[in-house]
Parts: sequence; structure tokens; C-alpha cells
Amino acid sequence: MNIYFEKATLSHKDLIFEWLEKSHIKEFWDNSSEHREDIKNFLESRKNFSKSFGSIFTYWIGSIEDEPYCLLMTSEVTPAPELPKEWNPYLSKTGKTFSIGFMIGEENFLGKGLASPTLRAFTRFIRYYVDPSVDTYIIDPADTNPRAKHVYEKAGFETVTEFMRESDFFKDIKHFLMIKRLHHKNYIIHSFVQINMNPIVEILNNVGWAPQYVEGQKRSIEKLILDEEGDVFVAKHDDHVLGFIQVQHHQWNRLSYIHGLVVSPDHRQQGIAATLLTHVEQVARDRGNRGVFVDTPGDNYGGRAFYKAQAYAEAYIMPDFYEEGLDGVSYLKLFKQENRKALPSAVIRPVTTADIISMVSLSDQKRRIYEKAQPQFWHRAEKANETQSQWFKELLSQEDHILLIAEANRQILGFIIGELKRAPEVYDPGGLTLMIDDFCVKDQELWATIGKKLLLDLQQQAKQRGAIQILIVCGHHDVSKRQFLKKENFILTAEWYVKEMGTLINRKI
Ligand SMILES: CC(C)(COP(=O)(O)OP(=O)(O)OC[C@H]1O[C@@H](n2cnc3c(N)ncnc32)[C@H](O)[C@@H]1OP(=O)(O)O)[C@@H](O)C(=O)NCCC(=O)NCCS
Repeated sequence: MNIYFEKATLSHKDLIFEWLEKSHIKEFWDNSSEHREDIKNFLESRKNFSKSFGSIFTYWIGSIEDEPYCLLMTSEVTPAPELPKEWNPYLSKTGKTFSIGFMIGEENFLGKGLASPTLRAFTRFIRYYVDPSVDTYIIDPADTNPRAKHVYEKAGFETVTEFMRESDFFKDIKHFLMIKRLHHKNYIIHSFVQINMNPIVEILNNVGWAPQYVEGQKRSIEKLILDEEGDVFVAKHDDHVLGFIQVQHHQWNRLSYIHGLVVSPDHRQQGIAATLLTHVEQVARDRGNRGVFVDTPGDNYGGRAFYKAQAYAEAYIMPDFYEEGLDGVSYLKLFKQENRKALPSAVIRPVTTADIISMVSLSDQKRRIYEKAQPQFWHRAEKANETQSQWFKELLSQEDHILLIAEANRQILGFIIGELKRAPEVYDPGGLTLMIDDFCVKDQELWATIGKKLLLDLQQQAKQRGAIQILIVCGHHDVSKRQFLKKENFILTAEWYVKEMGTLINRKI
């Protein structure tokens, strides 16, 4: 099931207004003329201010396999006098709070069990594609709408209190305040490097593993990093290792075997293990493997429940596998046929000097294409690669630049360089601009996957450093990059026009 969200545009206007006329919508959706006006204003890029709605809402269309079926609205909720007082204690203290309004407009999609998966996907979409600082969602069904309350509960919302609505449409109807909180994903998955070994050993000691197990993990990591079939990844926050996973992708039976997965006790319950495991599953798919298997001691009930929750089936019990009296239990997840070899997964990590050769080669590939499109403006300089290599090295030491690279199976798939810049003094956009000039992927098809991953990671880091907008430079002929940027809701703000001057001829005017 491929659910996809996009900002509602004028092209959706007829559809949305058709939905608003449906009886199942009229029953529970604020269908006032003011609300309709607000939707219309939004679709017309908010040229007019919606007085009663404050122009605070963003409207989204959800589609399945390109067929639009639902409308969602969001707005950031901050403490304000007009907010029901019952809401205040539940607003996020660690990030942003977004309110959500939701309807399935298309009748054919009603009653199909789609509501809660849609909401789950939408909360993730906002978090990963729109604003990573959103960690709390609020939704408020009316007491008269038990179906909505039920699907929200299934989507992970919890009822925290009740309150009365004061707006005309819902006046004096009891409403439930329902909250969903997401954990902050403030860690990044990296490939293992040698300096991660001591922190890993420290984590294993803190967890209380017996010395022979710690030694076993250490030796296995040392072996796997040199092995073509091996991978070791760490979850890191700044310079701190929070957890790791090590895996061997067997070729003989095309199954990937997890040799170790451990998260530091101080960082449990944040989804780190699931992220590491999902990452390894993706790498296994990329290698064309059929699935992943793992074994764990029979008395590790937490670990066993975790694998079950990640859709691993208990495969077999190995008596006395770990030591006398301690059985091993194996778990297996076989990928569905269509999910094998899906999108390339990549580790996004900071650039090091060793990456510069690959980056220059990717840039060179791009420059050659650009040169064909505009042979004068983009005429390659004779020593372009040497100059660029030097330039990238210099950027590595500059505080206001962030350089990230995407790597999968030891191959560089793309890179991005962002500069944190102040706007010229005559403009005041309200913060720093993240300016992205060098942004390359190995193949055009990778924009939507690798390009997006690079952009999101850079955006997240830049945001933490005060950036409030992104500016990306893109050649006019670079259709795939332009399409990608459009899909990511970038707006074209400036155009460059180039003209060859030709030979100047002295002419009397
Ligand atoms: C609310 C809405 C999004 C739900 O969509 P849907 O397609 O009906 O929902 P699903 O098919 O995914 O799920 C319906 C669930 O509600 C349950 N349900 C149906 N009527 C119910 C009722 N009166 N009381 C409690 N649960 C009910 C169903 O049994 C099913 O639960 P299950 O999956 O556990 O079996 C949709 O009905 C809608 O758009 N309504 C109009 C707008 C609206 O009410 N928006 C919410 C404003 S807060």
C-alpha cells in the first residue's frame, strides 16, 4: 500500500469541495463558510488573509497509488489565550506540537481499515519530510464521533482529557483531546570506524555482559569490517555511540545473520534498535538477500519480544547453545518477494578527506553534462578537478559549511554541501539561509531516495544551527533534479539568463 502526501494545491480544489458536500463529511467536519474560505485561500497561496481562521492551517492531500482519497490539515499549536485551557499542559516541551484534522473524502476508501495506517504514515511524513522538530500531535474528535476516536486510538493517539469547543460549528459539544508523542530521533546511523570500538565495549560492559561475550563481539566486529560480506553500523549522537549492530550477509543461502545488536541502557525505548535493524534489513535487500536471521539467549525475554514486534518469526530452539542450561532461540524474517532489492539504503555521514576523490569524480560527471547543456557558461576549466579537490579540502575546515556523503556497500552514492549564510542586509528572512550549491547523486534515479536522505539530514543539522530556509542552485536543464525539488515543495524564486556576447563591432548608434 503506497500512501503518499502532498500539499493541497488549486488542482485539488474541485475534489476537496466535492468531498465537503458529502453527507459523511458534513456530519463531523466544520463545513462553515469561514472554513471553506480558509481552504480556498490556502489553495490560492494565501493571497488573502482568513480572518476567522487566522491563516494558520496547511492542507494536505493523501493519495494511494496516485488516487487522492483524504484531506488533512495541520497547524502548529503554541500557548495562546484562544486555546482551550485544557490543552496547555499537553503541548510539547521538547519540540513542536502540530494539530491534525482528518477526513477520508472518497467514499470508496471508507470502511477499508485505511484511517489509522494513514494517520500513522502522516505523522511520520511530517516528522521526516516536513519538520523534524515536531514530536507531539494533537487531534480532537467530538464525543459524537466514536468512529474517529477509535481509529485515532489505533493510530497511537491517547485520550488525555475532555473539553468543550467554543467555535460555532461545534459549540457545546464535548470533545476529547488525544495526543501522540514521537521520540526525538536525534541520532544518525554511521558505518563503524575503529574509534567506535572502545565505546562499544563500554556499552557491553554497562549492559553487564560476561567478559567472554564482550570479547566475542569485539572479535566478530574486527572480522566483519574486513569481510566483503560483513557490515557494522553504529547509532551516534554527536560523538557518542548509543548502540551498534553487526551483520554478515551470507551469500550461500542469501540470508543476513545478525551477530550482535545492542543499545546502551541509557538510550533504550527511543527506537534506536529498531532503526539499526531496519537499516540492516534494507542493506540486506539491496544485496538481494532473502531475509535476516538472528539468535538470542532463551532467557532474553526483552530481546525476544523485540524481534517478535519487528515481525520476526521464532524459528527454532538450540539447546545449550550459549552455555550449559542456556538455550539459543533463533528468529527469522523473510522478505516478501516484491520488497527484495528495494530502494538503495545508505549511511549518511560527514565527509572525510578520504571521500574527496569520489566527490570530485561525481562533480566531474555532472560538470560534463552541464557543459553539454550550456557549453560557454559551464565550460570546464582545464584543472577543474584539482581546483575542486583543493576547494573541498578547504571547506572541510570551515565552520559555516556542512558536508555530508551517502555511502552504501562501500560505494559513494551522492554528497551535499550546505553553507549557513546570512541574507544580504536589505533582506531579513528571519534567520540563516542554508545555501546548497554542490549537491550530486550518482544516478538521476537516486534523487528521490539518496538525494532526499542527504537533504533531510543536512536540513536537520542546519536547523539546529539556526537555519530557517534552504536555497538550492539547480541548472535549468537538470530536469530530474528540478522535478525532485518541486516534489520537495521548493519554490522557484530566481532565474539566471545567460547570453553570449559575440564579437563587439564598432557601430555608430
Ligand atoms: C473518521 C474517518 C477518517 C474514519 O475512516 P474509516 O475509513 O471509516 O475508518 P477505517 O475503516 O480505517 O476504520 C474504522 C474503524 O472504526 C470502527 N467503527 C466504525 N463505527 C464505529 C463506531 N460508531 N464506534 C466505534 N468504532 C467504530 C470500525 O469497526 C473500524 O475499527 P476496526 O478497524 O478496529 O475494525 C472517516 O469516517 C471520515 O472521514 N469521517 C468524516 C470526517 C471525520 O469524522 N473526521 C474526523 C473529525 S475529528
